[in-house]
Amino acid sequence: MSALLVRDLRQVVTPARGPEPVRGAALRDVRVIERGYVLCRDGLIESVGAMSELGSVAGDVEELDGRGMIALPGLVDCHTHACFAGDRAEEFDLRSGGASYEELHAAGGGILSTVRATRSAGREALGSALARHKGWMLAHGTTTFEAKSGYGLDRDTELEMLDAIARAGGVPTWLGAHAVPPEYENGDAYLDFALGEVLPAAAAVAEAADVFLERNAFDAKQARRYLEACRREGLALRLHADQFTESGGVPLAVELEARSVDHLEATGAAGVHALAASDVAAVLLPVAALFLDRPMPPARELIDAGAIVALATDFNPGSAFCESLPIVCSLACTQLGMSPAETLAACTANAAHVLGRGGVIGRLEPSYAADLILLDAPDWRYLAYHLGGDHVAVVVKGGVVAWSG
Ligand code: NIG
Ligand code: FE
Repeated sequence: MSALLVRDLRQVVTPARGPEPVRGAALRDVRVIERGYVLCRDGLIESVGAMSELGSVAGDVEELDGRGMIALPGLVDCHTHACFAGDRAEEFDLRSGGASYEELHAAGGGILSTVRATRSAGREALGSALARHKGWMLAHGTTTFEAKSGYGLDRDTELEMLDAIARAGGVPTWLGAHAVPPEYENGDAYLDFALGEVLPAAAAVAEAADVFLERNAFDAKQARRYLEACRREGLALRLHADQFTESGGVPLAVELEARSVDHLEATGAAGVHALAASDVAAVLLPVAALFLDRPMPPARELIDAGAIVALATDFNPGSAFCESLPIVCSLACTQLGMSPAETLAACTANAAHVLGRGGVIGRLEPSYAADLILLDAPDWRYLAYHLGGDHVAVVVKGGVVAWSG
């Protein structure tokens, strides 16, 4: 029996609704307890409330002084590519001089340059790169992260990536259809290999499958083939879609009852309404839009129409070299027209839903996992308000202090 009492907190703040994903006006519904506490036992939250209601606590309890701090649910990053070797600093330099992300990709750079680095890294170096990235995420308050494969695109490296992610405690997604590697003539030939040779082993480790549906990547027909095969193996389905062009990803996601469709920078009114009428979550990645100087996704329209909206970093070396969900929340307020309350639910409760963990992580309520962050700030909205402000002072994961700054 191990217990942790975080006491005398300035505020305890959590999305109010749950465990179902939060939609529409309910996304603004935040519960704020002034002068509060969070009591954790055996990895779970036992109770949350005002200090004035805290009775005597049974058993041995470790106490953490929360004076001046604000407790929020641990942040959940439901879309990252955190398992990669090398970097794309050179490409970033070229892009700053006017080269486009798509041009670099078409010339064999972009994703394929990270594929080369990841294939040649070896198991140990890849594991340490992921551990370093996980440390960065943790220091920004991320207590649960998803990470995708997709930089191997051969059997061994894809499986090595999924294993590394699982060993690091991440939620593994098989992004077997990220790009067509140079040894295949076209997407269909590559998918013959990936679905025949990699899927059975990938499905034993991964929780979900993902595909990049875009010009110069995979088209809607190929995406359907990939996703249907993955669904037969029991994987949840996700899509990268409408990043540059509206390519049929939204109707496909709705038809296949995918967990989420991610990006949506190019999605128009019909896509917004189709998502709002469905249970497919819209995962918005404002850092990727900013980093590539692309239009922002229609967040306001999606929320107002009633879609399930989540936020994530898309952390990767090419289109979003940023592991900070607080920065994502800032951008969501200034670029996507979201309120701080909406951003909080979007990167906690709704992100948990995208990872199949709704009702388990993402809120500070009894029986949820004891994953919380303490902000050293006068108001919880500093999470989004202070751009790059770094107010995360303590991170508790499973009732244990996992990081403190
Ligand atoms: O979500 N768009 C495709 N995949 C990633 C980028 C990966 C990369 O550039 O390495 C994304 O933006
Ligand atoms: Fe991505």
